[in-house]
Amino acid sequence: MNRPLIFAHRGVKGTHPENTMIAFREAERVGAHGIELDVHLSKDGEVVVIHDETLDRTTNGSGLVCEKTLNELQKLDAGSYFGFNGEHVPSLKEVLNWMHGNTLLLNIELKNDMIRYTNLEQKVIHLVREYNMEKRVILSSFNHESVGMLGDLAPDIERAILYHHPLEDPLQQARNYQAHGLHPNFRLLTPEFVLEARQQGYPLRPYTINQPQDLQSMIDLGVDVIITDWPERAFSLLNKR
Ligand code: G3P
Ligand code: CA
Repeated sequence: MNRPLIFAHRGVKGTHPENTMIAFREAERVGAHGIELDVHLSKDGEVVVIHDETLDRTTNGSGLVCEKTLNELQKLDAGSYFGFNGEHVPSLKEVLNWMHGNTLLLNIELKNDMIRYTNLEQKVIHLVREYNMEKRVILSSFNHESVGMLGDLAPDIERAILYHHPLEDPLQQARNYQAHGLHPNFRLLTPEFVLEARQQGYPLRPYTINQPQDLQSMIDLGVDVIITDWPERAFSLLNKR
């Protein structure tokens, strides 16, 4: 049976403000194998780490991320909504720079399904190369055209399609868009499909698995990676075996 790797979703989102440096450092502290984070483009074309298109839910700012410069974004408080002081919206550069000091894997989700950012793909690839992170990064998006574009631009960097609703033929969709792996909503997985994906050589990294019974069922299915807000829950189940 596959022992899954554990990726901390948006950092350790269960206990820390999502997509902040303290949440990423916590992932390292608890022994996660990797982190997942989300990126958008600022008004001045910098790749920034935040989940929503807007600032309102996770910062003390408001409005669209893409209408603020990096400098404006970094003055915002990105931790108080969760009871943490001193956190800001990180740039992808800052995260990649921090990753030089560890061995974590990094799943960068390009959040370009609602807003089609010009050159987001090129900018992310440029940064991954600048920091020599090609072998530690998995790029993913719900925008499968974008995944295909990443494949044309950087065939050497691993890519995956994200999907929330059932696809007619997920493995064919992966082939159509040059993806190496699949990141489905975990509720879409069946034992038959897990087997088929494995036979065809496509890693499965379902999201976002938080409840103990769901974590256990993904462990039992033998998925490759579990993306969770609660990595320590996953480890305590794995360690029981
Ligand atoms: O990448 C997996 C997962 O993060 C996708 O959904 O909305 O949490 O970004 P979301
Ligand atoms: Ca995400």
